[in-house]
Amino acid sequence: MKNSTVTYSDHRHTRVRLQSEKLSAHSGSASDLTHQEDMKILSAAVENLLACTGFKGRARRNCSDYRLERNDVYLPNLPAAFEGYTILHLSDLHSDGLIDEGEGIMRIVETVPSDLAVLTGDFSFEDNVNHFEPCLEALVPIVRSISARDGIFGILGNHDLLEMVPALERMGVQMLLNDAAYLKRGSAIIVLAGVDDPHFYKCHDLQRALSVATPEQFVILLSHSPEIAEEASRSGVDFYLCGHTHGGQICLPGGVPVFANTSCQRRYLSGGWHCGTMQGYTSRGTGFSLAAARLFCPPEITLHTLHSVSMPCEFYTTAEENKGSWYSNFSGHAVFA
Ligand SMILES: [Fe+2]
Repeated sequence: MKNSTVTYSDHRHTRVRLQSEKLSAHSGSASDLTHQEDMKILSAAVENLLACTGFKGRARRNCSDYRLERNDVYLPNLPAAFEGYTILHLSDLHSDGLIDEGEGIMRIVETVPSDLAVLTGDFSFEDNVNHFEPCLEALVPIVRSISARDGIFGILGNHDLLEMVPALERMGVQMLLNDAAYLKRGSAIIVLAGVDDPHFYKCHDLQRALSVATPEQFVILLSHSPEIAEEASRSGVDFYLCGHTHGGQICLPGGVPVFANTSCQRRYLSGGWHCGTMQGYTSRGTGFSLAAARLFCPPEITLHTLHSVSMPCEFYTTAEENKGSWYSNFSGHAVFA
């Protein structure tokens, strides 16, 4: 078992302090107003640009053009008892911003029973503490529409507040805040670990989340963004699930993003990738943020199917090759809309 230098109470203290600083900036009581004000200006600029170019209506309609992406992933270390294990993956729901109140999401999710469901953060559209109740209300029917044998697990994103956790757990979402759970099939075990947001709050504590895992155990990590992929790979994670990037949200034809909103390499921005021996998947997100607009980057609901055999050679892409084709994934889904 690995030792952590950051305790759980340290994590909560840091999270709450950073949230408070962010909210102070939002309310105008701090000197660094730039982030929130910049977001409002950027949102208006995006909407004006789309209106001027005639794309505004199409970009808005695309926000509810949900795609069910099926990602078959080949994991040599997966316990044989988990062959064919399915994971429903929703990310970046930003539920209080959804233009269809989640109806299109529920229509798809109800048809996709799975072994496990994971929600990789950014439940909220607004990130002001006074506005997270509408987010939770909008989430309730979406969570109810999920049917997952081993339960629903979630992590926090950069739009989410620690205060949302009790309500999410009452809804049936088991939150992993630098913590882990066991998934069992007979005597076989997978460790499902989750970290707090590594993008804005940087309150992730990977060592603590992985502290229950022994070196031979298979580990799935939930992380809001792909920004700690390399650290996770070095720490023995086998499969990494994340979102945050929205795949760019506003893209050029072929899925080339105009904005990335992340500091990681482009190959991690969307779809399947690998880092060393660890495989990962970055969801384009189910909702949207900033403006109700998606271009050449449809929202996704992902169904991962795990296989305990080596990847067929036609799906195999080396890390170097993957750098140039970050907008497609191992399932070969073209990104268009
Ligand atoms: Fe995010």
